[in-house]
Amino acid sequence: MEQGFNFSNELSGKIALVTGGTKGTGKSIAQRLLNAGATVIITARNAPEQANSHLHFIAADLSQSAGTQEVVSKVLEQFGRLDILVNNMGGSKTPGGGFAVLNDEDWESTFQTNLLAPVRLDRGFLPQMLARGNGVIIHIASIQARLPLFDATLPYAAAKAALVNYSKSLSNEVSPKGVRVLTVSPGWIQTDGATGMMKEIAARTGIAIEDAIQQVMESLGGIPYGRPAQPEEVAELVGFLVSPRANYLTGTTFVIDGGTIPTI
Ligand SMILES: NC(=O)c1ccc[n+]([C@@H]2O[C@H](COP(=O)([O-])OP(=O)(O)OC[C@H]3O[C@@H](n4cnc5c(N)ncnc54)[C@H](OP(=O)(O)O)[C@@H]3O)[C@@H](O)[C@H]2O)c1
Repeated sequence: MEQGFNFSNELSGKIALVTGGTKGTGKSIAQRLLNAGATVIITARNAPEQANSHLHFIAADLSQSAGTQEVVSKVLEQFGRLDILVNNMGGSKTPGGGFAVLNDEDWESTFQTNLLAPVRLDRGFLPQMLARGNGVIIHIASIQARLPLFDATLPYAAAKAALVNYSKSLSNEVSPKGVRVLTVSPGWIQTDGATGMMKEIAARTGIAIEDAIQQVMESLGGIPYGRPAQPEEVAELVGFLVSPRANYLTGTTFVIDGGTIPTI
C-alpha cells in the first residue's frame, strides 16, 4: 500500500513541547523532533548548558501548579497552538531505606513531579487540541510501574503506575475526538540522572559505582540485551509515535527496556 509519508521532514509545520528537554532523554527527544522538522519548545528549571538556537526554552518549575500554568500560557501566547506534547520530565529524589524513612513530603513531591505535572499540562493543552480534532500526547513512565524497586524509589514506582493508568483513561476519553495518547515505559536509560543515582547508592552504601551498577542490574533481574538504553534509542521510539506513521496507535504502552521485564 502506498503510504506517501516523508520520513525525513514528517513533522514539518508541527509545534512540539518536550518537558525536561535540556538533559538526558528529553534532550535527545527534542533533537529527534527537531530533526524531523518540528518547531520544538523545551522546559526545565535551568537553561540548557549549551544553548541551541533552534530550540525555544521556557524556564519553569513543573512540580508547582503555577509553573505548569506559566508554560501553557507562554506556549499558547507565543506559538498559538500545540500539536505534540511529550511529558518527559520526571524522576525520583527520595532517600533509600524503604517505607519507614519516607515522609508525606517525599510522597507528595514525587507525585507532584511524576503524575500531577503531566495531568496539569495535559489539561492546559487539550482544549485547543480537541477544538482542532488533532494532537498527540506522550507520557514517559518507567518499567518501575510494573517492576517496582522498593529501596529508594517506592513513591516513584507508584506514581509512574498511576501515570500509566491515567494515560489509558485519558486516551479512552480523547481518542474519539482525534487526540492520540500514549505511554512510553523505559527501563534503565544511561543518562546523567541515572548515573547520579548510581553515585548516590554507591556513596550511601559504601560500595564502588561499578558494584552499585551491578546491584541495580541484579535487582532488575538482569537486562537480557546486556546494557542500559541510550537516550537516542528512546527518542527514536518517541519520534515514531508522534509521527503520522503511528496514526492508529493510541491508548497503549510501549516498553523499551532491552528485555528487562521478565514476563510477557
Ligand atoms: N534514566 C532512566 O534510567 C529512566 C528510566 C525509566 C524512566 N525514566 C524516565 O524518563 C524521563 C527522563 O528521565 P532522565 O533520566 O532522562 O532525566 P534527567 O536526565 O534527570 O533530566 C531531567 C530533566 O527534567 C528537568 N526537571 C527536573 N525536575 C524538574 C522540575 N521540577 N521542573 C521542571 N523541570 C524539571 C531537568 O532540568 P532542571 O534540573 O534544570 O529542571 C532535566 O531537563 C523521566 O520521566 C524518568 O522518570 C528514566
